[in-house]
Amino acid sequence: MEKILVIGALGQIGSELVPALRAKHGAENVITSDNKEHKEHHFRFLDATKKADIEGIIKDEKITTIYHLAGIISKKGEQEPLLARDVNLGSLFNVLDLAREYQLRIFWPSSIAAFGKTTPKSAAQHTITEPVETFYGATKIAGELFCANYHRKFGVDVRSLRYPGIISYKQLPLGGTTDYAAWMIHDAVTKGSFDCFLREDTRLPLMYMDDCVRATIELMDADASKINIRTSYNIQGFSCSPKELEWQIKKLIPGFTATYTPDDHQDIADNWPSYVIDDDARKDWGWRPQFDIRTMTVAMIDGIRKQLESSAEKIVR
Ligand code: SER
Repeated sequence: MEKILVIGALGQIGSELVPALRAKHGAENVITSDNKEHKEHHFRFLDATKKADIEGIIKDEKITTIYHLAGIISKKGEQEPLLARDVNLGSLFNVLDLAREYQLRIFWPSSIAAFGKTTPKSAAQHTITEPVETFYGATKIAGELFCANYHRKFGVDVRSLRYPGIISYKQLPLGGTTDYAAWMIHDAVTKGSFDCFLREDTRLPLMYMDDCVRATIELMDADASKINIRTSYNIQGFSCSPKELEWQIKKLIPGFTATYTPDDHQDIADNWPSYVIDDDARKDWGWRPQFDIRTMTVAMIDGIRKQLESSAEKIVR
């Protein structure tokens, strides 16, 4: 029987991964945690940079598996680099050391930020990974290398995905660079216009949240003998530019207008690949995306409209 701790449960991915894990394992077997107060029966306040606090929960709750989602992503990481270092890497060391002591299974996300300017625009699984341009990328590639080494040296069953930009509406992303995609669709529905902080031709790898949640659970469900990559698996849903997303939205909301005012998000995006080759994930544990740019846009618009109908409160940036 698995007893799961989700760290960073209130974030963009945690808030949708948790219901899926609870449907699979039962609510009482999924303990949520974050560094904010939250009223919920199975929730525990946690600052993941404090190892003793994580250990307390592991002991109290007899945790067997951790999904360690707490992280400071790209734009925010450039504004607060030392915080990004402590949260992204410091807390990962805490979790890896505890995994070693308590024989825990770990999921930890890496990112397309693990690539950098010297990576080919179509990024293979094993390629140049020199993200010297962002603290976020540096924490992710360093974390990947330690995951692989904790597995090799100490037998820790740690698994990871290089998440592309994740598009969702239930909780919109904040502090990232690929965030433009979710916000473009959100603003198309609510305002009919959007000013994009990236150039219209900035092609990046993206993925709809349903695929992200499914990929994460499928990776963790896979037999250990199938996991050949212990740094982090490349995955993507599809690849598109802001202009292509604008066209896609216009098919469903004809009056939508987008303008482009690139800012310092562009400097970050320019280091990242346009396309990620995810053949190893497909071959090793059967990864297949289900959403492309069209079906993602339909699902997002539908979801945002339903959410607005059922909630008096507007989502604010
Ligand atoms: N979504 C992240 C970001 O934009 C990439 O991992 O920072």
